Amino acid sequence: MEIIKEIDEYLKNNMSQKRYIHSVGVMNKAKELANKHNIDEEKAMVVGLAHDIAKELNAKEINNYIQKYNIEVDEIEQKNLGLLHGKIGAKICRDKYNFTKDMQNAIEYHTLGHVNMDKLAKIVYIADKIEDNRKGKDLKYLNELAQKDLDKTMLYLLDTTIVINIKRHKLIHPQSILTRNNLLSK
Ligand SMILES: [Fe+2]
Ligand SMILES: [Fe+2]
Repeated sequence: MEIIKEIDEYLKNNMSQKRYIHSVGVMNKAKELANKHNIDEEKAMVVGLAHDIAKELNAKEINNYIQKYNIEVDEIEQKNLGLLHGKIGAKICRDKYNFTKDMQNAIEYHTLGHVNMDKLAKIVYIADKIEDNRKGKDLKYLNELAQKDLDKTMLYLLDTTIVINIKRHKLIHPQSILTRNNLLSK
């Protein structure tokens, strides 16, 4: 649990209080879901806690990390640099905390989803959206669904996000569509 303390300390000192509280909420929710779905609880907690480690970077810092890590940026990401906080966070956690590949993937995939998500990645994606500090009318339903079926919960969350983006006339990243199609074909 030493690593949890280390990440906790870093986030507490480098993030807004709001984001820190959210991160702890995701850690706790990821633990609960990991237990329910039989994956390593501590791993899920560590990734849940760290998932937004790059979320509060400014544009200059994001651009520095893109250079440093040679990150591929597509057209949509270029217009919404914030979308890169998953990819950048994964690299930061690799270098800073020796995250394994599956842990890096879970961080990377929590922003847009991905067709190759394992249970850990799904749990982090879901925990991010349903942790106890979130507000919204579907949360009780989603919490129950997430106990039973990670794929159905993912599908529900992707549908919701896509619909919101359509209503707001925002871009939809194709990776979210691919993730949704992949879940539907199961
Ligand atoms: Fe995030
Ligand atoms: Fe988050």
